[in-house]
Amino acid sequence: MQIQKYSIEFQDSSFLQLNKHLASVGYSMIFVLVDTNTKKDCLPLLQSALSDYNLNVIEVEAGEIHKNIQTCTNIWNALMEFQADRKSVLINLGGGVIGDMGGFCASTYKRGIEFIQIPTTLLAQVDASIGGKLGIDYGNVKNSIGLFKNPSAVYLNIAFFKTLPRAELLSGYAEVIKHALIVDKSYWEQILNCPNIDKNDWKVVVERSLQVKKSIVELDPFEKGIRKSLNFGHTIGHGVESLSLETDHPLLHGEAVALGMITELFLSNKILGLSDEHLNLISNFIIKLFPKYNLDALSKAEVLNLIHQDKKNENGQVCFTLLEQPGKFKINVHVEDVLIMEALEYYNNL
Ligand SMILES: NC(=O)c1ccc[n+]([C@@H]2O[C@H](COP(=O)([O-])OP(=O)(O)OC[C@H]3O[C@@H](n4cnc5c(N)ncnc54)[C@H](O)[C@@H]3O)[C@@H](O)[C@H]2O)c1
Ligand SMILES: [Zn+2]
Repeated sequence: MQIQKYSIEFQDSSFLQLNKHLASVGYSMIFVLVDTNTKKDCLPLLQSALSDYNLNVIEVEAGEIHKNIQTCTNIWNALMEFQADRKSVLINLGGGVIGDMGGFCASTYKRGIEFIQIPTTLLAQVDASIGGKLGIDYGNVKNSIGLFKNPSAVYLNIAFFKTLPRAELLSGYAEVIKHALIVDKSYWEQILNCPNIDKNDWKVVVERSLQVKKSIVELDPFEKGIRKSLNFGHTIGHGVESLSLETDHPLLHGEAVALGMITELFLSNKILGLSDEHLNLISNFIIKLFPKYNLDALSKAEVLNLIHQDKKNENGQVCFTLLEQPGKFKINVHVEDVLIMEALEYYNNL
């Protein structure tokens, strides 16, 4: 399978580029997938930028709990009812949920129609919209059904952050921290020196973080090696996130990744010799930024069970990406269950 080339436009003129793109391709119909929030907060901006075009809007409920096969059925039904043909395009206007699910629906509708990502959250701009991973949650396991396929283009615009709730901005910031920690020590030090995230220039943050993600996925599009570095914080993070979605206190993706990074830093300390100093410094930085989650509400056995089901595992063994030091990762590290339990305990006691 070949990875299709696509452009990422990141500038104030990104809508101008989008207009040019639509004019040059001449799609038969243009669909825009939104959720209840992006319909209200983001669609007007897009509609005014694309006033020359007839946009057919498909709306779904917002939130991770709707990233499932039932919502896909609704999206495919809508495309059928509008009689979308194979020259149609689906513009996914929203966060990672809309991007992952919309891309999945577009790629499977009539064996695949084109789709364009317009990510509207920090998380989606620096992470979910880049790298071609598409899919939905299934049977309690996150992102367990899906495929790799690149969009025709990605258009980024930080103007969307104006309406983004603070918790969502913070959620995206977890991925920014992850990018810095795995490959860019000086970027991490910069982040460490800016504990008040409101002081960030988002244009700079998005551009730098995007570069990290882009360069990694271009080297390893199908996650055979180096791309696994991006899983730092996600092995324990995904397990806890999946379970939390069934409780009254569901975690946002980035909140779960923040917890995942702290627990996996503990593992890094025990297994790869990450220094005590780094473990304490980074854990304290993260714990101050993100709301502390009460792990007692979850069954540790179920967390472990979900970690064992993770699709990143190989030969029945749980595979982690851990850090030797900031900016230096190691992939495919096997970890015993007892140590995973200790890591959860470490987080609980912070
Ligand atoms: N494909 C990948 O490589 C990849 C990488 C990381 C995460 N993900 C996936 O991304 C998802 C998380 O993405 P997310 O954090 O963007 O979640 P999300 O799509 O649920 O968006 C978060 C919330 O913000 C709202 N929203 C979005 N943009 C807004 C705006 N500009 N103004 C106001 N409200 C807005 C949404 O309606 C939603 O309620 C998860 O499903 C995760 O699995 C995928
Ligand atoms: Zn993530």
